[in-house]
Amino acid sequence: MTRGLDLPRRPRRLRRSAAIRGLVRETRLSAESLIYPLFVTTANNLRKEVSSMPGVFNLSVDEAVKEAAAAQRDGVPAILLFGVPDTKDATGTGAADPEGPVQSAVRAIKRDVPGLVVMTDVCLCEYTSHGHCGVIVDDDVANDVTVELLVRAALSHAAAGADVVAPSDMMDGRVGAIRSALDKSGFTAVSIMSYAAKYSSAFYGPFREAAGSTPSFGDRRSHQMDPANVEEALREVELDLEEGADIVMVKPAMSYLDVIWRVKSTFGVPTAAYHVSGEYAMLKAAARNGWIDEPRAMMEALTSIRRAGADMVITYYAREAARALALQGTK
Ligand code: PBG
Repeated sequence: MTRGLDLPRRPRRLRRSAAIRGLVRETRLSAESLIYPLFVTTANNLRKEVSSMPGVFNLSVDEAVKEAAAAQRDGVPAILLFGVPDTKDATGTGAADPEGPVQSAVRAIKRDVPGLVVMTDVCLCEYTSHGHCGVIVDDDVANDVTVELLVRAALSHAAAGADVVAPSDMMDGRVGAIRSALDKSGFTAVSIMSYAAKYSSAFYGPFREAAGSTPSFGDRRSHQMDPANVEEALREVELDLEEGADIVMVKPAMSYLDVIWRVKSTFGVPTAAYHVSGEYAMLKAAARNGWIDEPRAMMEALTSIRRAGADMVITYYAREAARALALQGTK
């Protein structure tokens, strides 16, 4: 772009004051796009901090209701529930228990915190004795039998009143199977947010401590994606959309900003990104050592995920970020 005159270009003009920076800002972070994960247990009256995730707790159902209500007061529109059951077995039977922690929390939160969007994680890993995301046959996670169990879990969440079910297992064909089962049972209004491009990531470590879901042998590479691939992520997303996903997710977020960008620009559908436990724990750890300015790092991280194209961000920082954004608004 030439302007005729040989004058120096001065992009700094538009950075001279907070007001002018606000005028030219391209990405705005807002509490409206945040989703807050909660870990619900079967215990009574429990609020126990996860050691690798300061500020994140294992909660009893009553405490989860309080936390959900507090999140809503902070301006967070949605929560995502994970179950931490007290008994596990080889096929993760507990995942579909109508009296399980997730199902009980969904009922209580829908009753006591009206208007909050309640999403549920659908997977077997928290419920299996071996910590794998499905049934093990010949040392492998068996796809199709696992899908049947995931369908049962999703139906039990819908029956409890979940607004959105979120399969995180990465089995093939589970979105279509869940969609048709939901529709057959009259749950046509329940949405599916699929963990469509979920990578086999070291950044899930702290979550597995929180959910007690570390595999007792092997790893999740036979179903979660290779961090080196992005074309494959597009194929995964395309399949999930064909099968009826309403929202597609990329996970983790910050090492996969290019994947978020490709998914959003290719499909133009509602896209979520999960700022996962390890990403949160890294910031917390650095902050605790005084090595990083945590409030600024948090905002920069979440803004970059939105800038890459995510419409919504699942983050353990949701409440903190919503409160910080509200304060900015009053300044
Ligand atoms: C599986 C599941 C995992 C996470 C969300 N759902 C862990 C895994 O695949 O082992 C990770 C979330 C995080 O790290 O914050 N049910």
